[in-house]
Amino acid sequence: MDSGFRANPYPSYAGLRRKQPVVQVDPGGFWAVSRYDDVVHVLRHPRLFTSHGFQVAWEPAWLGYSPMAHSMLALDGEAHQRLRTLAARVFNGTAVRRLESRIRALAAQLAEGLAAQGEADFISAFAMPLPTTVMGGLMGLEASLHGRFKGWADDLASITPEPLNAAHATRVRTTVEEMTRYLTEVINARRREPAEDLVTDLVRAEVQGQPLTDREIIGFLVLVMVAGLETTVHLLGNALLFLAEHPDELARLRAEPMLIPRFIEELLRYESPVQCVLRFTTAETKLAGVTIPRDAVVMAVIGAANRDERRYSEPERFELHRELPSLAFGHGAHHCVGAMLARMEAQRGLEALLSRFQGFTRLSREVPWNLSFAVRGPASLPLRFIPAG
Ligand code: HEM
Repeated sequence: MDSGFRANPYPSYAGLRRKQPVVQVDPGGFWAVSRYDDVVHVLRHPRLFTSHGFQVAWEPAWLGYSPMAHSMLALDGEAHQRLRTLAARVFNGTAVRRLESRIRALAAQLAEGLAAQGEADFISAFAMPLPTTVMGGLMGLEASLHGRFKGWADDLASITPEPLNAAHATRVRTTVEEMTRYLTEVINARRREPAEDLVTDLVRAEVQGQPLTDREIIGFLVLVMVAGLETTVHLLGNALLFLAEHPDELARLRAEPMLIPRFIEELLRYESPVQCVLRFTTAETKLAGVTIPRDAVVMAVIGAANRDERRYSEPERFELHRELPSLAFGHGAHHCVGAMLARMEAQRGLEALLSRFQGFTRLSREVPWNLSFAVRGPASLPLRFIPAG
């Protein structure tokens, strides 16, 4: 929670990689794994480093039921594969390309809005509405609800083993009830009257001859809403922050828009929107010579692994032409199913911005980084938008 660490976690990561690549952060606390190969090892061995622990973490006794605990992110093995196969179908290349023209038009419209304002908070005026509208449209949810997604996602992310206080417990319970009630209504409506959207796909879907249960469908939708929004918002926010700070890189991209996909890949490595993912050990194990006990919480620090000098030359340098991919979208069985969509949103988003504006001037020196350690990006980013000549 230290603000200096949030502003720049990279020197601490370098120290961990060098001196304590596998370390228990506090007595009784989680274990941080920071080197690239060790993070890959953790993510490649789901039997030993399971995701099941999320079920307990996301569905504590005081809450009773929580949709995320029934999503694929909290499952392993066959149960995970069942939902994953379906997700891969829904978010495959053809499905994502079908969204392309809508994303391009939306990005252009949002960029026009910024031009009309001249100065605006990039996060609330562009980075947030782009993925929220794309996701809401994809799911077929009413536009009036799109603004509620973030509040819902924040409440779900705030779930702790014990409620922080009575007000917190009431708020989270109300959110879960509200989401569940609303999504159940949408599911029933699509059963009666199918539409061209994700909910209809999920209602119709059969995996190994079995339809999905309502809880599985709700878990799927809520996971996509939580996993697909803040992450993409931060990718866009990190991109604009970087370009505002590096006019030379901005000029290069404006001159050669073909480089935008490479820029996004390197940015994903350099400022990973997801800084870490959690796993739970099912048995005592050794990693980098350190013994981790059974039932330990292991934090695979993607943000540190992506700057590992054992894998990348001069990892602290932003270098457009790197060959090696990063772990920004995870690795192994749970590798991000939305990666293609996220890349498409970022690419079309940046294209619209770079063709409409020749520069972005920061209006505040402070960067209010997201308070959560798990995700990295500015919570707000006031900018002046300088129109292209
Ligand atoms: C999983 C990152 C965008 C849906 C993951 C994981 C990471 C990640 C690191 C692995 C989690 C783990 O191993 O525990 C990102 C980043 C994004 C992004 C950096 C944007 C820049 C999206 C989008 C969607 C999405 C747009 C939805 C369309 C998912 C889902 C999973 C996932 C459903 C779980 C997959 C599974 O459990 O098998 N993401 N994501 N993500 N992501 Fe993304």
